[in-house]
Amino acid sequence: MRILVCGGAGYIGSHMVKILNSQGHTVTIFDNLSTGHAQAAPAAQLFAGDLLDKESLARLFKAHNFEAVMHFSAKSLVGESMTNPSAYYTNNVIGTINLLDAMQAHQVHRFIFSSSAAIFGPPQQKTINEEHPCRPINPYGRTKLMVEHILKDYHHAYGIRSVSLRYFNAAGADPEGKLGESHTPETHLIPNILKSLINGHGGLKIFGNSYETPDGTCIRDYIHINDLCSAHLLALNFLDNNDGVFGFNLGNGNGFSILEVIAAAEQVTGHKIKFEYAPPREGDPARLVADSSLTRRLLGWKTQYTGIEEIISTAWNWHQKPRY
Ligand code: UFG
Repeated sequence: MRILVCGGAGYIGSHMVKILNSQGHTVTIFDNLSTGHAQAAPAAQLFAGDLLDKESLARLFKAHNFEAVMHFSAKSLVGESMTNPSAYYTNNVIGTINLLDAMQAHQVHRFIFSSSAAIFGPPQQKTINEEHPCRPINPYGRTKLMVEHILKDYHHAYGIRSVSLRYFNAAGADPEGKLGESHTPETHLIPNILKSLINGHGGLKIFGNSYETPDGTCIRDYIHINDLCSAHLLALNFLDNNDGVFGFNLGNGNGFSILEVIAAAEQVTGHKIKFEYAPPREGDPARLVADSSLTRRLLGWKTQYTGIEEIISTAWNWHQKPRY
């Protein structure tokens, strides 16, 4: 299939591109390289451009006869979205509208959208399924939810079929060690834990230790990047036989507190990890754990990496020899 991957030089998008290429798809990457890395994308497939530039998008769609679009490009930091909402609404909402309009103009009708657990807000039950109310508590989550609403209208009016995949905490790296997570600044927990070991200066901070969780630190559902990618392939096939707008949650269903993640990282690396407590980060819910049974049932999704140690060990492999 001829597939446009927006954000294909970023952390999740680059892993997706590698898998699509290995399966023989014809992939074009569109990425503004603001947080992505040219080294993470095959040069011949990379088209540098911005979703806010409609002319660049029009040229791209004219030059390729895409059959489907996967959309990973977004600003995705909860904390940053609290202090700079303008960048979030502009990039994540307006950028996506531009992309959908280009799809509509060129009769491309299959769309896989990177949504987020952040659309749900504070959980009302232990695990979050697709029926959970959507009450995001930060601008980042609101931008993702807005796009999910827009997708319903674009299906009704223009026939664009879509699957929104609500990621819980993407983690880990390409098991071959060619791709991995590399953000500047790095804000995510697992890379920060591992980098604190590699730089030798420690400096790891735990944001908040008086949340309403058993050990007081935030609980998250960490899901390996390749398991996220496999759900995208299944979602694409699903759209062949299902005309509509769908949303699926992607997580392992196991919650780990920050202290538990640190203990698992000590196990994997064989090193003691030093940290200090710092005030909570604005916009962080205490607990986010997925119920992905619908995804497993309707898409036939199976996760390969179910243990937190397994996930961390692929990240540790990358952080010891990062290529970018
Ligand atoms: N944390 C620390 N120290 C760090 C980094 C993170 O204590 O150095 C804490 C955070 O405060 C949070 C937890 O570790 O409690 C996980 O933080 P991450 O930054 O790794 O991930 P988030 O849960 O904040 O965010 C991720 C994605 C978002 C998405 C969210 C939904 O980055 O895009 O998951 O679950 F919205």
